Amino acid sequence: MCGIVGAIAERDVTPILLEGLRRLEYRGYDSAGLAVLDSKHHLQRARKPGKVAMLEQALSASPIHGTVGIAHTRWATHGEPTESNAHPHICNQTVAVVHNGIIENHDTLREQQRAKGYTFTSDTDTETIVHEIYENHINKGLDLLAAVQATVKGLHGAYALGVISKQDPQRLITARMGSPLVIGVGIGEYFIASDVAALLPVTRRFIFLEEGDVADLTRQSLRIFDRTGKQVEREIKESELSADAVELGQYRHYMQKEIFEQPRAIADTLEGRIVNDQVIEQSFGHQASEIFEQIKEVRIIACGTSYHAGLIASYWFESLADIPCRVEVASEFRYRQPHLRKNTLVVTISQSGETADTLAALKEAKASGNVHSLAVCNVAESSLTRESDLILLTRAGPEIGVASTKGFTTQLTALLLLVLVLGRRHGISAKREKELVHHLEQVAAKVEKVLEMDESIRLLSEQFGDKEHALFLGRGTMYPVAMEGALKLKEISYIHAEAYPAGELKHGPLALVDSEMPIIAVAPNNELLEKLKSNLQEVRARGGKLFVFADGEAGFKSEVDVTVLDVESINDVIAPIIFSIPLQLLSYHVAVIKGTDVDKPRNLAKAVTVE
Ligand code: AGP
Repeated sequence: MCGIVGAIAERDVTPILLEGLRRLEYRGYDSAGLAVLDSKHHLQRARKPGKVAMLEQALSASPIHGTVGIAHTRWATHGEPTESNAHPHICNQTVAVVHNGIIENHDTLREQQRAKGYTFTSDTDTETIVHEIYENHINKGLDLLAAVQATVKGLHGAYALGVISKQDPQRLITARMGSPLVIGVGIGEYFIASDVAALLPVTRRFIFLEEGDVADLTRQSLRIFDRTGKQVEREIKESELSADAVELGQYRHYMQKEIFEQPRAIADTLEGRIVNDQVIEQSFGHQASEIFEQIKEVRIIACGTSYHAGLIASYWFESLADIPCRVEVASEFRYRQPHLRKNTLVVTISQSGETADTLAALKEAKASGNVHSLAVCNVAESSLTRESDLILLTRAGPEIGVASTKGFTTQLTALLLLVLVLGRRHGISAKREKELVHHLEQVAAKVEKVLEMDESIRLLSEQFGDKEHALFLGRGTMYPVAMEGALKLKEISYIHAEAYPAGELKHGPLALVDSEMPIIAVAPNNELLEKLKSNLQEVRARGGKLFVFADGEAGFKSEVDVTVLDVESINDVIAPIIFSIPLQLLSYHVAVIKGTDVDKPRNLAKAVTVE
């Protein structure tokens, strides 16, 4: 999704803006641009379709410098990824704007503005904002701050904005509603960005703007106004992230790095949350005990990989904790007038905490008035954590690769902690909790061991380079694991992949099976093993090529058309975490063979902050 960086300083801000854009590349984008006010207070702008590197090339050919500036990476929504649609957008060579989000009433604004004779140079919704600020407000006598405040009152939808003007050259104005925005606090300088990662080389002190805030930044001062226009104080928070937390280091891709970071990420997610073989309830927030006491059922809402984590957790909630649990895709939940019973715990799961559908679904759920909310999230200061009663942070560290890996396994780890604390009130005995905690504490070491399969999976992946389709099969919790495996393969290798519960094969998908169709099965050694084996026989009988990731004790043997990879033998409850790892490695290596852009697959963005 789009990214914003801005700066106001005594020094030249162009290098800061460019470095910030590079650090936001992981979010996914298709054009980039920046605008600065130069020493004569003229607006200078450069924009390019394609990568930030293209913008850098253009800037080395014709450099621009200034002490106030804004920059943007654009992920096309309204209008193609062309130079004229790239941000910043400028009105009358005077005001420049960068914008994340979607303005829903842009058609109306555009009609009104056309009627007044304003001309448009792009197809974007953003251009209506810059016209509104300059033509409708500054031209009528308002200063830059007042013009932005007046403009945002008329915007419907989501926005994070950075605005500069040659008439007010010592100011940078920013505003947010529905899209994230942080202010970086320097010494005699301020910065803005849609993500702290962009600013880590210049500051570690951040202010997280709240919904409806507008901020007025000069080099020496910062004023924040809330949605009513009242001046407010917002706390400065110190980020624990270091600038190199987002460096690639020895790895070829972020996804690869993040797969190998999983043992540490899982251990960090458990750290300090278990004492004397019991999960500490307060890890979820100070109101946790009071809220958990009332909970009778759980509703999980999420998108993509986070949704798959929710599906696995639903098996755990019902089988281990005896708590009714339903899981829904956020984009469906938000529009279907769902019925939520009193004493439901609405659990949202999101790596980024900024996914528009998940946020909107949470608002819907809260509007029903009956529910308590808990967010399982990887970003402490995200919109989702701010909107939730209780929070359990996954401690995966920044996830840069668009394909979520450590985000997923740390979500599963966190969700199992939740199952245990809620389950305590619904029949999980202290003895059973101790047993499960013991298994959880072994997960990091087991993941470390499974990562040793890397080379054998790399070799296996060579058989997938020319495939166009793949089928993933699993039963029980391994069905959502298979769904996650299929999602990983399709998003980064562009191979069409589907997942089915193995028992569903003969109800349709078996018709697809022939010698060209690779079938990947996940087979832990559990009570469904014999059933799965019969399903796999159905595949073999139709000439399908099987690739089985099996518990070493499950009794599978490699033979003609059957390749078996032994996975560390493991307790069934934590098996979904362990079996996800080889599937991540498989999709990673297949993508490398296919030569795709592993970390930034086509058409996708890291955080889907628009609907
Ligand atoms: C994961 O590989 C995907 N890129 C995507 O499905 C992602 O999980 C989804 O967009 C939800 O993101 P979130 O966890 O940040 O809410």
